[in-house]
Amino acid sequence: MLDVYMPMMKSSAIISAGRLGLFEALATGPLSVQQLAEKIHSSAKGTATLVDFLIALGYLEKQGELLANTSSTQRWFTSLGQVDYTPGLLWTHEAWPMMGGLAEAVRSGHPEKTLWDAMVTQSHLGELFSSYMAAFASDLGPDLLKHIPVSSGQHRLLDLGGSHGLHSIRFCQRDPQLSAVIVDLPSALTDTDATIAQEQLSERIRLVPGDLQEMDWGREYDLVFYLSVAHNHTADENRHIIERISKALGQGGLLVIHEYLAEAPLDALDAAFRLTLLIETGTQTYSYADYCHWLTLAGFESIERIDLNPRQKGSLILARR
Ligand SMILES: C[S@@+](CC[C@H](N)C(=O)[O-])C[C@H]1O[C@@H](n2cnc3c(N)ncnc32)[C@H](O)[C@@H]1O
Repeated sequence: MLDVYMPMMKSSAIISAGRLGLFEALATGPLSVQQLAEKIHSSAKGTATLVDFLIALGYLEKQGELLANTSSTQRWFTSLGQVDYTPGLLWTHEAWPMMGGLAEAVRSGHPEKTLWDAMVTQSHLGELFSSYMAAFASDLGPDLLKHIPVSSGQHRLLDLGGSHGLHSIRFCQRDPQLSAVIVDLPSALTDTDATIAQEQLSERIRLVPGDLQEMDWGREYDLVFYLSVAHNHTADENRHIIERISKALGQGGLLVIHEYLAEAPLDALDAAFRLTLLIETGTQTYSYADYCHWLTLAGFESIERIDLNPRQKGSLILARR
């Protein structure tokens, strides 16, 4: 029972801290329980009870009579840290009730309603999911810049499933000759225009809302990003999409895939992610051999795999036409 009870309590305490803005309230310095309770508009009793558990979990620490974030909490869950994954806590709060239908998804083999359909009727879901993806993207950004070679002769970038736009923005900022087209579902693009405008890139990055499987993306691209999108499609769909990417790229063009590759045997994180996909989208992760097969069929050459560090960040696959 401890395997069931403790993860539930741990997860809900950390999520609640995120929802209450508790970690952010401590970001600028330690506070007493009373000061913290006032800052997060909560009762002293409730705050003290939550804080006790967060200290036991190693998320907060005592500094004399005051409370402070541990260095890891400050780093991952505040706006002053390296990456703020608070949107991930807010997203997990939404994902939690969805997991109540897991037994039914196992029985039927597919979700009752996909995440994308839920986002059409509950618009806040799309916004929240994109902010969560943006947190991942700011974590992953330096790896992409390091490993993806862009030459001065490459001008046109197609970012399929580009969502928040951060990847396109980062590359357009580094490589001034680049312009980008971002294709994604309307639910994922609610804030993207504003982010692009804030970075003064509206003239170089264009949004194309819609289902990437149904639309014409244009041609003669030098670079295509298919970043964390393949696991949202079936094997047949990926084979077809990669074939279309091949046709959309000019000779010598580069396709970059970012994915969480399915390796045998699956570790607990990989297997958990596949279970999430079963209930959210009805799709799955694929092996490196699957990608190599689809890429070769589509005429790609010099396929290269780069495993990121730490391993939980997934892998890049670079393939040239
Ligand atoms: C896991 S997120 C990755 C977002 C971004 N590429 C990144 O790496 O941070 C997957 C994205 O693919 C988009 N997506 C999934 N299926 C799609 C489809 N059929 N057409 C367009 N976009 C799609 C989702 O809306 C979402 O923004």
